[in-house]
Amino acid sequence: MVELLEAGKLAVEELVGEMGKAALEAVLLISAKQRGVGEFHINTEPDNDAAKALYASLGAEVVGVQMEIDLAGWGGSKMRLVPFASDMAAGVAECYNDLIAPVPECHPVPPDRFADLEGLASQHLRDERLMVAQAEPGGVRGFVHVGIVAAGLDYRPPVGPGTIRFLAYRPGERPVGKLLLDWAEAWAREQECTVITAWNGSYPYPFYYFPDGAQLSEHIGHVRALFGMAGFQERGSELLLTWRDFVPPVPQPPAPECRLELVWTDGPRLRVQAMRGPEELGHCIMDRGQISPSPEADDWCFCLALHVSDPFRGQRLGSFLLATALEEMRRLGCRHTALSVSWRNHRAVLMYTNIGYRHADRTCNFFKILDESSELARALRLA
Ligand SMILES: CC(C)(COP(=O)(O)OP(=O)(O)OC[C@H]1O[C@@H](n2cnc3c(N)ncnc32)[C@H](O)[C@@H]1OP(=O)(O)O)[C@@H](O)C(=O)NCCC(=O)NCCS
Repeated sequence: MVELLEAGKLAVEELVGEMGKAALEAVLLISAKQRGVGEFHINTEPDNDAAKALYASLGAEVVGVQMEIDLAGWGGSKMRLVPFASDMAAGVAECYNDLIAPVPECHPVPPDRFADLEGLASQHLRDERLMVAQAEPGGVRGFVHVGIVAAGLDYRPPVGPGTIRFLAYRPGERPVGKLLLDWAEAWAREQECTVITAWNGSYPYPFYYFPDGAQLSEHIGHVRALFGMAGFQERGSELLLTWRDFVPPVPQPPAPECRLELVWTDGPRLRVQAMRGPEELGHCIMDRGQISPSPEADDWCFCLALHVSDPFRGQRLGSFLLATALEEMRRLGCRHTALSVSWRNHRAVLMYTNIGYRHADRTCNFFKILDESSELARALRLA
């Protein structure tokens, strides 16, 4: 019987049907002894609940999904969806780098960025998992990284949204993307998440794109379309504005009387603040560099915030703060500058484009409601 099982001539389900759990346990024990192994991998159909319940009662855990996919031009490669292991780091990094290649100012990473998953973990998430689509032949064809938003960030218990931090597959290989996205959605449902979000700027990979709030780039069109086809809705559109070889405008003193303070912190990060007595009238925060291993990343400065108090707007204070911050960053050696701004913030976009920034990208995140009756779903519909 062990031979029949191992040769694939007898399905475990058939055996279970005939002889029950005790027999299966005995067969596995004999097989383990003969082969000198302490661990089994058992395959079953994803919707065979009886078999899954039986395996679970023996202590089995679902570690991955395996399926046959006929990828056009590949003559029917075998595709397996498996949990990430460190020997896949090179393949995953290659897949990541292929995906971000068309994204402006987004730098490739070496494999060691994926060697240590703990180093990638977000403090805002729990139960993170990275699943890899592996083809034989063909190696890593894609991957998806999921987690559950931890309590206290933007939801109330019992279960936060499931979230897709990253999903990569190559253009033209839609079955791979679909397999990854379907798995992520099924996983979120299994975790009893009522909503699944994706590409949220609160927990991007630390090296992906710009340092604050990076979402899915419009230059990764096939991934955007895949989410749309799967019923995800877009939200949170932001414009990425860049200015290569920027020439800082000469800061013109604004109408409101104020004194200027420059506060440097590690990063280096600069906060330029306009003060009148103890009152702050406005500030601009600029970071040097991106959290990327590329040497070019240090040539960039990124405007994280620019704010002027309501009564002082329209009196050149915003332009003054930004010009001062850019001048300082230039002095530090930065050559290029970037920022992300809501695409609806027309006033700010007018100001940035007046000064010299230009449209480079539009980014967004996604959500899909899994349980229409949930409180989270109601909140999202209102937002
Ligand atoms: C955006 C903001 C920083 C601009 O600061 P400000 O001191 O009001 O701006 P300035 O007086 O220096 O004006 C600079 C440019 O902004 C635009 N602008 C400012 N007020 C405007 C208005 N009422 N109507 C149209 N454009 C306006 C113009 O392009 C203007 O230049 P121009 O007059 O030469 O065309 C300020 O409005 C603000 O704090 N808004 C809320 C926070 C915010 O949106 N920050 C940016 C997020 S990244």
